[in-house]
Amino acid sequence: MIRFEHVTKRYPDGTTAVDDLSFEVAEGELVTLVGPSGCGKTTTMMMVNRLIEPTSGRIRVGGEDIAAVDPVRLRRRIGYVIQQVGLFPHRTVLDNTATVPALLGWSRARARARAAELLDLVGLDPKTYGPRYPEQLSGGQRQRVGVARALAADPPVLLMDEPFGAVDPVVREQLQDEFLRMQAAVRKTVLLVTHDIEEAVRLGDRIAVYGQGRIEQFDTPGAVLGAPATPYVASFVGADRGLKRLSVTPVEPDDLRQPPVARPDEPAGRARDRLREQDARWAVVLDAHGDLRGWVGIDDLAAGGTVGELAHRMTAWVPVGAPLKQAFGVMLQHDAGWVAVLDGARFLGVLTPAKLHEALRRSVDADARGVARGQVPFDSVPDA
Ligand SMILES: Nc1ncnc2c1ncn2[C@@H]1O[C@H](COP(=O)(O)OP(=O)(O)OP(=O)(O)O)[C@@H](O)[C@H]1O
Ligand SMILES: [Mg+2]
Repeated sequence: MIRFEHVTKRYPDGTTAVDDLSFEVAEGELVTLVGPSGCGKTTTMMMVNRLIEPTSGRIRVGGEDIAAVDPVRLRRRIGYVIQQVGLFPHRTVLDNTATVPALLGWSRARARARAAELLDLVGLDPKTYGPRYPEQLSGGQRQRVGVARALAADPPVLLMDEPFGAVDPVVREQLQDEFLRMQAAVRKTVLLVTHDIEEAVRLGDRIAVYGQGRIEQFDTPGAVLGAPATPYVASFVGADRGLKRLSVTPVEPDDLRQPPVARPDEPAGRARDRLREQDARWAVVLDAHGDLRGWVGIDDLAAGGTVGELAHRMTAWVPVGAPLKQAFGVMLQHDAGWVAVLDGARFLGVLTPAKLHEALRRSVDADARGVARGQVPFDSVPDA
């Protein structure tokens, strides 16, 4: 969808901002550009909507060489979230969001209806926030408006320059989560700039790691963290890259343990005897459909009655497919020895620290090998 072919940008003062860049972003793919300040990320992005013209090379969007496309027409297809948000201070949030539709000549009513829809999508109630001015919003809310504005004309391509840059880490993670949910629904082709490797691996289907004006590695988050292509990339992703893989490694059903189970309508005494026999201290409480109803400890069961009456609500849980990092976070937050893993309401098993450690070891092993399993020729593997 977006294709760079040997693109170089040299500024008049001789600075080479981008040097012979070639890469492609597939339709519906989210690629993050990550690298230190001044390495050419914004320059790369602004060449896609022709706010900056390359010195040499070619860029195609949807197959078309953009040098031949009228910039105004080009920009209609490309939403742009600029670094520092850049909302118009004298316009309301609703009118800010409706900027592009208004430029495109939509009727005022249609543009505003669309803007309200988009504000809703990014989690801002249009009735509350629409009439406000940007200075009456928090930093995180302003960034949401920036994203809504970029999406307003429903462009197939989205350029986002540090879209979550100006907020604290907690709000930032919320915005990232919201954005990922939204992207799963709207499937735009996205080029997203960040200088934060955590954000890059969290959001990107693939990552371009920039050195000075060049891409040092262009690959999936798992590959960049597990097998950095150059010493520069290795140092950029950091010595804790094994840990970082926790944020890109999902909880899988194979990682789970199956604890003892009790039914809500079961007499407490019977459940207690069974736990004793199994030398277990607690059980998960599942209904006949396998949905999680809570958990119960062996000491609770001494009170008699039914298991259902004694069960505690389960607060320590994550959905299957969540990153291991999230599961670890929930474990720490609840000071729990395990977290339940659910598919909807259905209980799949529990993740324990030991299992989490195994998953982490897997990623460290992959690090040590430095290549994917399939890439190792059989005859080069010594017998164990
Ligand atoms: N108009 C210009 N004239 C000369 N040099 C420029 C100009 N604009 C940018 N540069 C230089 O080009 C290089 C790349 O700049 P760019 O804005 O693309 O960096 P960046 O990766 O987005 O950095 P940051 O993370 O700080 O936003 C820098 O060295 C910058 O100083
Ligand atoms: Mg920049």
